[in-house]
Amino acid sequence: MKRNIKNNVSWVGYIDWELQTFHGEDYTIANGSSQNAYLIEEEKTVLIDTVWAPHRFEFVENLKKEIDLHKIDYIIANHGEVDHSGALTALMDEIPDTPIYCTANAVKSLEGQYGKRGWNFHVVKTGDTLDIGGGKQLVFIEMRMLHWPDSMATYMTGDNILFSNDAFGQHFAVEELFNDKANQCLLMSEAMKYFANILHPYAALVAKKIPEIAGMGLPIDIIAPSHGVIWRENPMQIIEKYAAWADTYQENQVTVCYDTMWDGTAKIAHAIAKEISAQSPDTVVKVFNVAKADKTEVMTEIFKSRAIAVGSPTEGNDILCSVTGWLAFVKSLKFKNKKAAAFGCYGWSGESVKILKEKLTDAGFAVVEEEVKSLWNPDEEDYAKVPALVQALLA
Ligand code: FEO
Repeated sequence: MKRNIKNNVSWVGYIDWELQTFHGEDYTIANGSSQNAYLIEEEKTVLIDTVWAPHRFEFVENLKKEIDLHKIDYIIANHGEVDHSGALTALMDEIPDTPIYCTANAVKSLEGQYGKRGWNFHVVKTGDTLDIGGGKQLVFIEMRMLHWPDSMATYMTGDNILFSNDAFGQHFAVEELFNDKANQCLLMSEAMKYFANILHPYAALVAKKIPEIAGMGLPIDIIAPSHGVIWRENPMQIIEKYAAWADTYQENQVTVCYDTMWDGTAKIAHAIAKEISAQSPDTVVKVFNVAKADKTEVMTEIFKSRAIAVGSPTEGNDILCSVTGWLAFVKSLKFKNKKAAAFGCYGWSGESVKILKEKLTDAGFAVVEEEVKSLWNPDEEDYAKVPALVQALLA
């Protein structure tokens, strides 16, 4: 069922209350999500994006109830990832000659995923326009690596709507569609989680793209992303947030992350957390066992942190595999301007702290020299090293 956004623009997407993970199992979803697609019915009829493949037949059937599919003049594929292009195959089976406007890289990703089907691609680049009648135009803006090489946004003049695709989105199901109808705390927390876990590796490109869009002089009344709410009340707020988040963002927070075998490393983790609060009562402290905690939420907490402390006992001349895998995820998000410290227990060989320091350095953290390395279980001598480690992290 189409839902009006403004004038002749409607939402025709899918609200996914049941989705629990995204990007395989990497991104955990706590509050549902949506795949937003949009229908413009000016003199020309335009479909912007589709939905994820499992919902493709329902999407096409619903669209048929709203319009004769043969009335669609143009399809805009802002991004080739399957959550937005997944219904194209079913749709194009019905209207195979309809032109698809997308970037050159989107042709590669769409043909790569679905095969060469002879679709009628029209390649566009930043600044190209498409007249849709009624004095209105679509203006295309390449969003290369935000977050795929093929990503693009589409701006509609007259109604001043930026169809931003993944940028400014959230994995957040809001049946009422609009930002002013959503729980504001959840909305901003989901928007930050999405930025930290999906867009942060490309933060430098976000920082460049925002002034580029501003420089195009396009007034923005609505930002309509491909996931989550449509920003109609103060839409610039999410652009301002992105500008801040892309600029080596941090809050006064330290996050302590660990896994443990027989509780010794956990004891050090909690001693570090207590000491941070003692030395700096205004600093927010969070503690996570990374083998058990929601990894997507933990990444968001690291994004917010000025420093982290990471612990693992030594096992098999290495760190625990739960921490190895977790650190690979941390590295992939390319955090910057954050300190880190390492700690852990051991029984004989004791490599874990050294390995943690190497991996944290490799992941882009400024690793402090101070450490807590405890033989068997932490004793008074080990706990006495905690204040210096915390002091170095907070300096
Ligand atoms: Fe929402 Fe990159 O797809």
